[in-house]
Amino acid sequence: MALMNNGVKERVLSGIQPTHDSFHLGNYLGAIKQWVDLQSSNDAFYCVVDLHALTIETKPEELKRRTLASVAQLIALGLDPEKCTLFIQSHVPAHNQLAWVLECLTGFGEASRMTQFKDKSQKAGSDRTVVGLFTYPILQAADILLYQANKVPVGEDQRQHIELTRDLGQRFNSKFGETFTIPEGYILKAGAKINDLQDPTAKMSKSSSSGAGVIELMDSPEINTKKIKSAVTDTGREITFDEKDKPGISNLLTIYSALTGKDIGASQKDFEGKGYGDFKGAVAEVVIDYLKPVRDKANELLQDEAHLNKLLKIGAEKADAVASKTLKDTYNALGLISRG
Ligand code: TYM
Repeated sequence: MALMNNGVKERVLSGIQPTHDSFHLGNYLGAIKQWVDLQSSNDAFYCVVDLHALTIETKPEELKRRTLASVAQLIALGLDPEKCTLFIQSHVPAHNQLAWVLECLTGFGEASRMTQFKDKSQKAGSDRTVVGLFTYPILQAADILLYQANKVPVGEDQRQHIELTRDLGQRFNSKFGETFTIPEGYILKAGAKINDLQDPTAKMSKSSSSGAGVIELMDSPEINTKKIKSAVTDTGREITFDEKDKPGISNLLTIYSALTGKDIGASQKDFEGKGYGDFKGAVAEVVIDYLKPVRDKANELLQDEAHLNKLLKIGAEKADAVASKTLKDTYNALGLISRG
């Protein structure tokens, strides 16, 4: 049990964007797997960040479908709404309200240095980059600080956003008095960066690749088997973990190890004397067996939207209670007069 000095469970918060119909294996191994592991021993809040998803142009019916599909997948992957608070970001208005306050504390240069913003805006060009993409990390900071989170389980690509959150929390506390808990990133070494199967030096990501190297959790076993069997491998024949010289094999070994629970050494041993073909076949089998019940369960949950909406209502109420209290304290600290 992760208890603080006063015997209270530690607070965990994380979020995920509903930008696609399916999460990918990087989302699961980098973040969601840790969410599941942390939900019982901590006071955990997990949200589907639909407001963040507005930074990418999406059709309304698509956003609705993807938001519910995200919730269904999270439950199918092991989140239990009885153990954690699972909710939709836009159901709790305090997220936007705190974001504005934090925007007034963030330097323009500071926000301009966020690498994800720089990458994405460079690709799109300034006329096609929305201001929401620029303030995205500040809304994320609000998500975290509102819940007084101690730990934030995320993948490696979120490290800089967590750093900004810490800076903003500390800045507010030192200017206006202790208001926010300063969170730590919870970034595990193994799985924090799952790479694209076709370009194993780049992270697995639906927005930046053709899709051939991305394992989608909701895809059919046939499609995923094909993708794994066509994964780019490296020169040589040995199945050894060497991220520099064998990024393709190392990425597949990381996936195999995370899904079987065997460490990298034991995983390598399983393939001593075997060739790349056998190895990829075995990785495909492990991935398919792991994902089959997840896909079935998510599809089953999506048959009953009323049930999902009921769970989300309960989640929103629990989240709102915590968030409103922090927002009230924040407004008081700032000298905003309460409505009375
Ligand atoms: P999103 O939706 O882009 O990603 C969700 C989570 O998946 C992790 N991830 C990966 N991990 C390992 N390997 C990969 N290839 C890979 N790709 C994605 C991400 O690190 C993330 O943990 N900005 C957040 C969403 C967010 C958030 C928050 C997170 C909004 N508010 C508050 C934590 C706390 C994001 O990028 O989500």
